[in-house]
Amino acid sequence: MEYLFKIFRYDPLEDEHPYFQDFLFRTEEKKSILEALMEVRNEQDSTLAFRYSCREAICGSCAMVLNGNFDLACRTELQKLESSHIVIEPLPNLEIQKDLVVDMEPFWDALSQIKPYLFQGEKIQEEGHRIEEKEMDKIFQYINCIMCGCCYSVCPVISRDERYLGAAALAKLYRFVKDPRDKRPFSSLSAVNTEGGLWGCDTVFRCNEVCPKEVRPADGIEGLRRKLVVEKIKRVFKLRR
Ligand code: FES
Repeated sequence: MEYLFKIFRYDPLEDEHPYFQDFLFRTEEKKSILEALMEVRNEQDSTLAFRYSCREAICGSCAMVLNGNFDLACRTELQKLESSHIVIEPLPNLEIQKDLVVDMEPFWDALSQIKPYLFQGEKIQEEGHRIEEKEMDKIFQYINCIMCGCCYSVCPVISRDERYLGAAALAKLYRFVKDPRDKRPFSSLSAVNTEGGLWGCDTVFRCNEVCPKEVRPADGIEGLRRKLVVEKIKRVFKLRR
């Protein structure tokens, strides 16, 4: 079977503009897009740049746009794309470093702003802190996030408002806020009570659609909004008593 790859190329140090380069790729075997890209790089053009690590849909580093769909190159089978013409592009909304490699810094920066770790209470339980299964069910999908950046890249808000933290960071905050072991202060929630935080989301649900791990980040954002409103109301009533 012969495939025509149209691969996005751009080296900001050398090229005036981005362009698409055609590569013919032949195989009779079942291969992932990542394997095909590796062969193209090894046999046709060693300057082709793309990012990967685990090759098992775990590290999230090979996210890209394949025939218009956001996905992981390592879990996308060539044969399942139902076309012999395959357009391969980098994630949008992030600066191109080279070809299919984008600068993930804004994504990591947003994530670090929500403090993505468990806040311990004053008393640390020596025997550990078990979490009930029904509590785990509420956060399990968010734990599955592999931080590939697909939801960040597909988001129309990110493309027009650089203050917006993005779906992955906010869904991660929801994961910790809903964790019964987490003792973060209310200020961590009110820190995202902003246009660049919870209220920036346009609820178009593109993030839910593209997640390769079936996480639904927009649901987490909705959950955080509810939590914030409930906590605010509780505080107002407490003050009045
Ligand atoms: Fe790790 Fe694809 S290489 S997710």
